[in-house]
Amino acid sequence: MSLLKWSAQLDIGVSEMNHQHQDLLDLMNNLHDAYEAKQPFDAQKVCFLKLKTATVEHFTNEEKYMEKIEWAKLPTHKIIHQRLLEEFGKHEKIFFEKNELTEDFFRFLKFWLSSHIQGIDMEYGQSVKQKKGA
Ligand SMILES: [Fe+2]
Ligand SMILES: [Fe+2]
Repeated sequence: MSLLKWSAQLDIGVSEMNHQHQDLLDLMNNLHDAYEAKQPFDAQKVCFLKLKTATVEHFTNEEKYMEKIEWAKLPTHKIIHQRLLEEFGKHEKIFFEKNELTEDFFRFLKFWLSSHIQGIDMEYGQSVKQKKGA
């Protein structure tokens, strides 16, 4: 079962970032599928590391984009990205120690993806939209 499906509510109005968010969502769903299918640790690890790499890349790209549009809230947004990576790292440690993922980890992913995108990512997206309309 998919962890999260793409919906219009996740559309922030910036196509490049929307694509990266969709890719992250796909990787999360792949990892969730591997977890539910009780695939071996190594197979789950591959999915996990793909998601980690894509997340780090996305945050870097997004921060560059916000710099380009001179988004005033960039410093706070960067701190929030950093905290998410720290949280991700905590789950990674547990995963590598116990060789299994937890429901708690998936709750974190689901919450992160939906609330972060619909919250602070949406904010810069809306400001770009307004500027274009002006
Ligand atoms: Fe973000
Ligand atoms: Fe984002």
